Amino acid sequence: MSSVHPVVPRSENVEAPAALMIVPTYNEAKNIVPLLEALFALPMVEETGWQLHVLVRDDSSPDGTGDIVRDLIETTYPGRLILSTGTKDGLGKAMKAAFDESLELGYEVIMTMDADFSHSPLDVPKLVAAINDGADVAIGSRYVDGGLIPGNWPLGYIVRTRVAGAVARLLGGVDPSIRELTTNFRAMRRSVLGAIPYGTVDAKGYGFMIFLANAFVMGAWTVKEVPISFYSRANGSSKARLSDIFEFFKIAYRLNDDSPFKQVARFLTVGASGTVVNLFALWLLRRVVPEDASVIWLSIAAIQISILWNFILHDRFTFKSYRKAWKGQSTLKQYGKNFLRYEGTSALTQTVIFTAFVLLSNLGVFYLLAQLLGIGIAFIVNYYVSSTYIWVFRKSTPLTLVDAPVDAPTATRTVRPAHAR
Ligand code: GDD
Ligand code: MN
Repeated sequence: MSSVHPVVPRSENVEAPAALMIVPTYNEAKNIVPLLEALFALPMVEETGWQLHVLVRDDSSPDGTGDIVRDLIETTYPGRLILSTGTKDGLGKAMKAAFDESLELGYEVIMTMDADFSHSPLDVPKLVAAINDGADVAIGSRYVDGGLIPGNWPLGYIVRTRVAGAVARLLGGVDPSIRELTTNFRAMRRSVLGAIPYGTVDAKGYGFMIFLANAFVMGAWTVKEVPISFYSRANGSSKARLSDIFEFFKIAYRLNDDSPFKQVARFLTVGASGTVVNLFALWLLRRVVPEDASVIWLSIAAIQISILWNFILHDRFTFKSYRKAWKGQSTLKQYGKNFLRYEGTSALTQTVIFTAFVLLSNLGVFYLLAQLLGIGIAFIVNYYVSSTYIWVFRKSTPLTLVDAPVDAPTATRTVRPAHAR
């Protein structure tokens, strides 16, 4: 439980603290009025101990969304509704500006949701409740038990969000402990937002969402996914553009040095270089060792040299984040243990190639193809074992706070490298 008491007892004198909901809008004139009605009608204080304030970030919508909000501030929701305006430069930029403002305004809990009723106002108290229960971040999630996506959702949408999730994980290396990465329905303590360098990410569009999701994991905060139902947009149209997709890939690519995609690419490079080293070593040994030495021993020596070569490069290059995660705690003993494990893996790899060769060529597969398929399977086995058994690490480290020192992020997610247990 965090040190800040989220629930303030209700009495005549003490007002419940306010949590802020950020709603980015662009041409949401038809949605914003019913949305604000629904949000302000929530029994927030009764159910969560927090009252709700709303910050609408509108980028000069041509349909007059901003004017409607300006009007409502005066007539209906004074003191509870805030308008922030800018010029249209993408959802990511709008969120950055809104985050800056919400930190300046001093809100302790900051939330985000879409204006188009994709996210149900009725789910908002659940997010706040998760924070009350000790989460630093609560994510409205379609992908945990009880979460839903609309039954009538076009296949194209389902594919899009699934692909986006896969890209974030494989190319971006976002930790799989968070299942919902892309949708903008979240609650955060200000300490989290204050510590995340969201201003540095070069995102105009939805890539901003995975940057944040990644930061949640990296910061080792307590992240809780809350099941929500996701709905099709009520009125108006989506602002997603093709350029957002390219940007999304770019941002994913820059997120982590140890994404599966990058690791596999490095692993392949090292493997190829090891083969060259193997052949070169064999050639060299043949020249320097007396003629009568058995070539079998030379081959074994060359294999050992290439195994050592691969091991060192995997340790220094392929899985370089492993060392960072260790922060210098790695010992010679650990190094030796890993080397023996890698020896074992290499023996396994050779066995796989040989077995595949025998089986496949017996099935009538052309012998070179049989060998090549064996190498392919062996590569997968080798990478799998190396990344799940030898160079195993967690990258999360508690981030230091930029402001709001009262409420330090809890570090329950900081896990030691697996081999240190
Ligand atoms: N201020 C501002 N400026 N708001 C914007 C901008 C912009 O440039 N672009 C979009 N918005 C607002 C919309 O008005 C809406 O409230 C919200 O951001 C989401 O935009 P949509 O146009 O409805 O996007 P979507 O339905 O395609 O996005 C869905 O998928 C994204 C990626 O998975 C939503 O679930 C997003 O939350 C999600 O990030
Ligand atoms: Mn939408």
